[in-house]
Amino acid sequence: MKLTDMEIEGKKVLVRVDYNVPIKNGMVEDDTRLRATVPTINHLLEKNCKVILMSHLGRPKDLLKKGKSVEEMQKELTLRPVAEDLAEILGIDVAFVEDCIDAQIPNENDVVLLENLRFYDEEEKNEIEFAKKLAAHADVYINDAFGACHRDHASVSAITKFLPCGAGFLVEKETKQLSKLLSPERPFVAIVAGAKADKIGALKALADKADKILIAGVLANTFLKAKGIDIGASKFDEETFSAAKEIIGLAGDKLKFPVDCVVADKLENGANTRTVAADSMPEGWMALDIGPETIESYKDELKDAKTVFWAGPLGVFEMEDFSHGTKEIGEFLGNLNATKIAGGGDTGAAINTFNLADRITHVSTGGGASLEFIEKEGKLPALVALEKAYRKAKEE
Ligand code: 3PG
Ligand code: MG
Repeated sequence: MKLTDMEIEGKKVLVRVDYNVPIKNGMVEDDTRLRATVPTINHLLEKNCKVILMSHLGRPKDLLKKGKSVEEMQKELTLRPVAEDLAEILGIDVAFVEDCIDAQIPNENDVVLLENLRFYDEEEKNEIEFAKKLAAHADVYINDAFGACHRDHASVSAITKFLPCGAGFLVEKETKQLSKLLSPERPFVAIVAGAKADKIGALKALADKADKILIAGVLANTFLKAKGIDIGASKFDEETFSAAKEIIGLAGDKLKFPVDCVVADKLENGANTRTVAADSMPEGWMALDIGPETIESYKDELKDAKTVFWAGPLGVFEMEDFSHGTKEIGEFLGNLNATKIAGGGDTGAAINTFNLADRITHVSTGGGASLEFIEKEGKLPALVALEKAYRKAKEE
């Protein structure tokens, strides 16, 4: 249900947000995900609601596996710095509650943030009893955590069984924009790049949906290697290998690969660099950006597009020496008259670095979630749970 259609005046509203943001030395490094939830929070405040925010941060289990103690892990993954940052953004006090289940929620604050949901294993196990305890904090539940909607976890899934539910403005906007990729205006061109190997499922779907798929980044190295090309010391992903071969079979000519690249002897600015053909990378050197010929050919592939999906930077854009591919393609997209949808934290960071945000139709706050949205035709576990809850409410 839409937030604007819900009866919420004066109610206690539990809002799941995705404040899984980078934190360094106790400071939020990128507050995009915080700012993205402000419209929902402000709307609730205007309706005199008490806003109880909850989120996960990081992956506690990974830190424990690395040998950290529970105390160290909790110190590293506390949401306290996020509460401080949010207070500055909203211009009002945000009370921080040190346990998402057990602590007392203060009466005097209109906005409170609960401690990291993943400090309880029950969250990721989607446990009913845990969801019930969370639900006990409030009268209404709003999901505004688009970035976490691909997870079948208690705070986005099981909880919908216990409270009247709705989607926040961010979830509404994200689903509306990303749905444009499911029935795209053609030609539909996807740029799939970046360092992470989590794009295989989406690539399989795009093999069918997109008219062209431009590959770059570490993903390109993986594909080139799968095609039997020597990629020197370039980074690639062993686990994606057989999937890459399968996608080549599925997508055929739609798939475009770099024809040249910038290689370096070290991963640092000022390293020795050369521009070489993609099929003759020198031994011991690594590809860190697409080359000028590839930039031109990718612009050519993009020029008539009516819909573009951009997932992942085309090189190591954080380093000036390897930023040209991402910058030039980004700027070309900025000037393109098409629906342009970008997803993922790194892509968002590149868009901000090159000041492109106001020329991209929509920059999703979800990385994995935007990819799975395409893969699953919009049927993300948390969105399905909301739909089920609406249907049930209607029947009653
Ligand atoms: C993300 O940043 O990908 C989301 O917040 C989900 O986090 P997760 O990948 O650890 O589930
Ligand atoms: Mg993720």
